[in-house]
Amino acid sequence: MADFVGALDQGTTSTRFMIFDHGGNEIARHQLEHEQILPQAGWVEHNPTEIWERTRAVVQTTLNKARLDHADLAAFGITNQRETTLVWNRRTGRPYHNAIVWQDTRTDRIASALERDGRGDVIRHRAGLPPATYFSGGKIQWILENVDGVREAAEKGDAVFGNMDTWVLWNLTGGPDGGVHVTDVTNASRTMLMDLETLDWDDELLSFFGVPRSMLPEIRPSSSPEPYGVTRAGSLGGEVPLTGILGDQQAATVGQVCFAPGEAKNTYGTGNFLLLNTGEELVRSKAGMLTTVCYQFGDDRPVFALEGSIAVTGSAVQWLRDQLGIISGAAQSEALARQVDDNGGVYFVPAFSGLFAPYWRSDARGAIVGLSRFNTNAHLARATLESICYQSRDVVEAMHADSGVSLDVLKVDGGVTANELCMQMQADILGVPVSRPVVAETTALGAAYAAGLATGFWSTTDELRSNWNEDRRWEPTWSERRRTEGYAGWKKAVERTYGWVD
Ligand code: G3P
Repeated sequence: MADFVGALDQGTTSTRFMIFDHGGNEIARHQLEHEQILPQAGWVEHNPTEIWERTRAVVQTTLNKARLDHADLAAFGITNQRETTLVWNRRTGRPYHNAIVWQDTRTDRIASALERDGRGDVIRHRAGLPPATYFSGGKIQWILENVDGVREAAEKGDAVFGNMDTWVLWNLTGGPDGGVHVTDVTNASRTMLMDLETLDWDDELLSFFGVPRSMLPEIRPSSSPEPYGVTRAGSLGGEVPLTGILGDQQAATVGQVCFAPGEAKNTYGTGNFLLLNTGEELVRSKAGMLTTVCYQFGDDRPVFALEGSIAVTGSAVQWLRDQLGIISGAAQSEALARQVDDNGGVYFVPAFSGLFAPYWRSDARGAIVGLSRFNTNAHLARATLESICYQSRDVVEAMHADSGVSLDVLKVDGGVTANELCMQMQADILGVPVSRPVVAETTALGAAYAAGLATGFWSTTDELRSNWNEDRRWEPTWSERRRTEGYAGWKKAVERTYGWVD
């Protein structure tokens, strides 16, 4: 009897594998970073071959660390950076181009053209997404139009598309030698190509981007009792059923056991992603949130979510480290920001990829405003952490406008939640308590849950709920006046970022 479930988390900056027991406790993990390829301003790419090599390595090393082998795993789940787009040749396994990462803005003209001729409204209604560089459809179009031979190969059925879930699963199941070409509903809901009502690729949406249907993976539930495939010898040393796929933010929502309508979580990674479970109801946003599939377990009806996606949060802290050199590591941002009691009038809006939710302004670029000679690095560090929290407040406000839901507490997870000062600021800026669970790796845990529910390793979502325990809670301490004035300053700063790109 296999006592564990494994989950692969193929993220924007790294790939990790984790093994969990029945109580949702971590048994072992291993993680490897991959290169961020930045060929020109606004472009971000990943090397898919490097990511597949990292995947094999992290799976093997984690099993070795835990002194387990494939037979100890009841199921294997996959979660992934969403939207990042790849086209490869199914006969050779070779990618036609580097993967175009979700943060990449090279498709801004494709996105704005959609808005000009009314197709934007069709996409908004059918796919639940505003036309933006963020999603996969425009990225596939760019590859079809700019990489030699891809369109012909796609029409012959040789060139296929996938997000990272599909790429990794295709390779795990044999690659050119019988690899399975599937995705799940949550990943498909980020392409601008799937109809949220039919949960199928939509011919009119495909026509907007010139994408042949033959390129696309089969869309399956996020948790599938009939495995998508099994791992083939060579990658894991034996066969493990692959039974769960979830986009990483949906996975974190599952890992945070947000199974009831009205429950929400906010993940603090390179960007921030707040998802509110809206149940079986498809809520169409008027306030700049996305409508997305939250999960679909087996034959059950899909559960939907409203999502506020923020492109740059943790990566703004990395920018302080890598580009400005004012801190040596993420942890130091907290120490530096603690040297001052407030932001000294400084606001930093890190609109490096334009602004995502709730603004959707691809013409925006970053701004640091309110500077006086009095200000120091410490104020900038503080303004950077505040920007993470203010952007989250923008999303919470939009979510409230769309759904009427006011949060009693905000469940948080992700790397930045280790920053105690930032979490205190989040409670202060929102005026709502912030709660972090014991297992902060909710993304991998959610993928493990999806995979394990499919095989009966876990039987119900109630069973999963009892695995969730609070680790730490931050209560708001700011006066209402400080909160209101601080937010007004932020809103003014956001307006200064508009209009820097055509
Ligand atoms: O939509 C992008 C998101 O899925 C990326 O998440 O944690 O890999 O930065 P992360």
